[in-house]
Amino acid sequence: MSPVFTVHPVSWHDGEPLLRTVRESVFIREQQVPEELEWDGLDAVCRHILALSPKGEAIGCGRLTPQAQIGRMSVLPEWRRLKVGTAMMEALLADARGRHLPGVLVHAQVHAVPFYRRFDFTEHGETFMDAGIPHIEMRLRF
Ligand SMILES: CC(C)(COP(=O)(O)OP(=O)(O)OC[C@H]1O[C@@H](n2cnc3c(N)ncnc32)[C@H](O)[C@@H]1OP(=O)(O)O)[C@@H](O)C(=O)NCCC(=O)NCCS
Repeated sequence: MSPVFTVHPVSWHDGEPLLRTVRESVFIREQQVPEELEWDGLDAVCRHILALSPKGEAIGCGRLTPQAQIGRMSVLPEWRRLKVGTAMMEALLADARGRHLPGVLVHAQVHAVPFYRRFDFTEHGETFMDAGIPHIEMRLRF
């Protein structure tokens, strides 16, 4: 049986410390993303999702920008492949649909393309480098 986790919509105002712990661990330490790229100034205007362990520890997060871009999808290594990312993505997509957006896009790290394809995102254009990591744009129309 999968360990129980929960997902919660949070504002940056309320969730910042916990959201930061996940992104510092996954993007800055694990993936070596430069801090100035990670903290791009958009967080205060984004809608965020936070996943918590049964003990209340932050284990994953993601965000939806006002430009309908889902990003910063991250799950701590020991919690991967347990559907935490799926639960967070479903919550962000429900949020976007509830706001009657025509669709959403992601700048997917190429290794994560299979994850986004499961939600029917499709690739657009060529791969490009961002923070030293190959990416490709993927779009989902509702
Ligand atoms: C990408 C990420 C958020 C996925 O979160 P997750 O909780 O592990 O994903 P899920 O367990 O919900 O996976 C659902 C499905 O997506 C696919 N998937 C997930 N991670 C995958 C990977 N690394 N490679 C290939 N397929 C993957 C699988 O089909 C998986 O189903 P399965 O485990 O039954 O085969 C997580 O791996 C992560 O944080 N990676 C490091 C940060 C990162 O690269 N983020 C993406 C930025 S674009």
